[in-house]
Amino acid sequence: MARIIGGLGTSHVPAIGAAIVKGLQNDPYWKPFFDGFPPVREWLSREKPDVCVIFYNDHGLNFFLDNLPTFAVGAAKEYTSEDEGWGLPIKPPYPGDPDLSWHIIESLVADEFDVATCQQVKVDHAFVNPMELFWPGDGRPVRFVPVLINTVQHPLPSARRCYKLGQAVGRAIDSYPKDLKVVVLGTGGLSHQLDGERAGFINKDFDKLCLDALVSDPEALLGYSTHDLVKLAGTQGVEILNWIAMRGALTGRVSQLHRNYHVPISNTASGLLLLENKPALAKAA
Ligand code: DHB
Ligand code: FE
Repeated sequence: MARIIGGLGTSHVPAIGAAIVKGLQNDPYWKPFFDGFPPVREWLSREKPDVCVIFYNDHGLNFFLDNLPTFAVGAAKEYTSEDEGWGLPIKPPYPGDPDLSWHIIESLVADEFDVATCQQVKVDHAFVNPMELFWPGDGRPVRFVPVLINTVQHPLPSARRCYKLGQAVGRAIDSYPKDLKVVVLGTGGLSHQLDGERAGFINKDFDKLCLDALVSDPEALLGYSTHDLVKLAGTQGVEILNWIAMRGALTGRVSQLHRNYHVPISNTASGLLLLENKPALAKAA
C-alpha cells in the first residue's frame, strides 16, 4: 500500500530561482534562507520517497482570471516549466505518475470533491523553485502529482475546505494498492502582500501561530475566514491554504523534524517545515 511518510511546507518566491542561478546561496541576504534546507535534503535522501504530491497555486501560467478552477489535479506523464517573465531557466520536465493521479482523482470525486482534471499542466515558480531546493539539479528522483488550489481569484476555498481536500487526498493515497512512499508538499506564503496600500506587509506573529498550529493543532486554523487570512497574512499570504491542505493529508502521528523562518525574502516571510507522519498507533485489542 502507498504510505505518506511526511509533509513539507516552503515558500516559493521567484527571486529564489534567480538566486540559485546566480549562485548566491552564501550571500549574506540569502544565507539564512538557504541554510534551512540541508536537513530537509538529508531527510529526503535518507527516506527516498517515490512520489511527491504537491499542493500549490498557479500564478496565471495555466489558468487566468477568466477561467480558474477552485481545485485541479494534474494527470500528465510529465510536467514542463515555462517562462513566466521572471527570466528563470526552463527546466527539464518533471515526471508524473498518471496512474496515481487518476486514482487520486477518482477517489476525490467519489469523496464529493469535483476537481478539474488536467492532462497537461505547465509548472510555474511555485512548483519549480521548491523542487530546486529539495532535489537540486536536473536529476528527477521522484514522480509528481500536482494539486492546484485557487488562492488568486476570489472567492477562494476556505481553510476548512482546503484541509478537507488534504484529508481526502490522504485517504486516496492510503487506499492506493502499490507499495509507494509518498511525501506531500504545500508551497507559498507565509505572510506577504505584493499589491495595494499594504504592499510589503508581513506578520511574524501570525506566521509563528500558523507554523505552531500546522505542527500540533491544525484545526485551530480552520476557523479563519478568507477575509481574516487576507487581513492577517496579506493578499498573497492566503497561499497558506496550500500548507493547510498538505497538513490535512497527514493522517498519522505527526511531529516536527525541522523548521526555518526568515524575513524577508523579496516581499515574503519565508517559512520551511518538515513534518514526519508515522502510522497511527494500532487500537488496543
Ligand atoms: C513573491 C512571492 C510570491 O508568492 C509570488 O508568487 C511572487 C512573488 C515575492 O515575494 O516577490
Ligand atoms: Fe505566490
